[in-house]
Amino acid sequence: MTKKASWAEPFKIKMVEPLFMTTREQRVKAIEEAGYNTFLLPSELVYIDLLTDSGTSAMSDRQWAGLMLGDEAYAGSRNYYHLEEAIRKYYGYKYVVPTHQGRGAENILSQILIKKGQLVPGNMYFTTTRLHQELAGGTFADIIVDEAHDPRSTFPFKGNVDLGKLQALIDAHGAERIAYVSIATTVNMAGGQPISLANLKALRKLCTKQGIRIIHDMTRVAENAYMIKMLEEGQGHRSAADIVKEICSLTDGATMSAKKDALVNIGGFMATNEWDVFEEARNMVVVYEGLHTYGGLAGRDMEAMAIGITESVDDDHIRARVGQVEYLGKKLIDMGIPIVLPIGSHGVFLDAKAFLPHVPQTAFPAQALAAELYIDSGVRAMERGIVSAGRNKETGDHYYPELELVRLTIPRRVYTQAHMDVVAESVERVYERRDRITGLKMTYEPKYLRFFQARFEPLGA
Ligand code: F0G
Repeated sequence: MTKKASWAEPFKIKMVEPLFMTTREQRVKAIEEAGYNTFLLPSELVYIDLLTDSGTSAMSDRQWAGLMLGDEAYAGSRNYYHLEEAIRKYYGYKYVVPTHQGRGAENILSQILIKKGQLVPGNMYFTTTRLHQELAGGTFADIIVDEAHDPRSTFPFKGNVDLGKLQALIDAHGAERIAYVSIATTVNMAGGQPISLANLKALRKLCTKQGIRIIHDMTRVAENAYMIKMLEEGQGHRSAADIVKEICSLTDGATMSAKKDALVNIGGFMATNEWDVFEEARNMVVVYEGLHTYGGLAGRDMEAMAIGITESVDDDHIRARVGQVEYLGKKLIDMGIPIVLPIGSHGVFLDAKAFLPHVPQTAFPAQALAAELYIDSGVRAMERGIVSAGRNKETGDHYYPELELVRLTIPRRVYTQAHMDVVAESVERVYERRDRITGLKMTYEPKYLRFFQARFEPLGA
């Protein structure tokens, strides 16, 4: 037997950003002022920021150098062509429209492809994606495998589509009622869970037969490809880059938040293989984002994105990225903390229903847990449960998702294992005094994407 070899990050640190330490008193006051919503905390009062992996990654020296090569022409910036070239090379989509971030692309694509009254089946909802589908007149239908809704299930491909659920929708409503199938790689709300290549191929077959498009939310596609490489039979010998390209080839178009996988602080795009869709998107982007060769971005942003895409599919990079998430996850499992299994690719998700079984879902257990974690150590996490799920647009009731989670999201190339140790120890301390945590009541509820700005008070306050 060979000895297990440790891995380390494939980079060294050239520049540092000091963190601010706070006292418990300061944090109690800050979370109260933030209405017990971690989104409303000033980041200067946060020690380790695991709110999101979106736009929070560290750029490489090459990306920073790329910023200096920004061609800030209004039209036809050379950086746009670099971006187009990177997208064609690594993802294979023919036509590209840059947008300021993922939801800009979702807006345009939803408006083009969804007709009022149509269904949009997908492998679990994502907040902004579903909202744009609804604003375009569509209704989201969940067709993910049942295992995805069970935080204890260790099924390795919880991002898979249940083809039976899709077939049942087609049988009940007809293929023409389906705008497209919306596939995310990986599935954020399920805990960063991958879809398998075999499942995607089977889905492609069914959709081709029925004449239904597959639209790819490729926000974390490189991480999904790496999970396929590690977990799917017969895929271990391939590079993640090769698998990324195959995943994209099985779909007809994509929306991308480049703030995740592609290692930039801002940016996104819409891509399609269809000229007609591209034509319409080019028309619409002018209304909502900017000209079709900049889409709300500076030339320098597009250059950083083009370089980030290249770096994001490098096997050594993804191994360390996913490895760090796994490190934190394993530590929490060893401490007996209930987390979503298997450990996902972009974060570790605490199972708030199991963590706080005495807090009913209507008292927002995940929201309360995220606030408590901040008070304990200044670690900022995010609710992914009933608050994020929002309300049913027809009935006005809360959605009651099976998954009531706190997401500890790891930015790429930003924190060290020592930071992960501090996070794990804080979660353990909160777990030890979990009986004393009460729920919250909502005192302010915004109309759209309420989790960003909602305010709460402790129950009994
Ligand atoms: N799709 C997925 C799967 C996402 O995770 C996000 C953003 C988007 C689309 C929207 O992209 O933010 O660039 O407009 N997720 C962030 C998060 C906000 O924290 O998970 P965006």
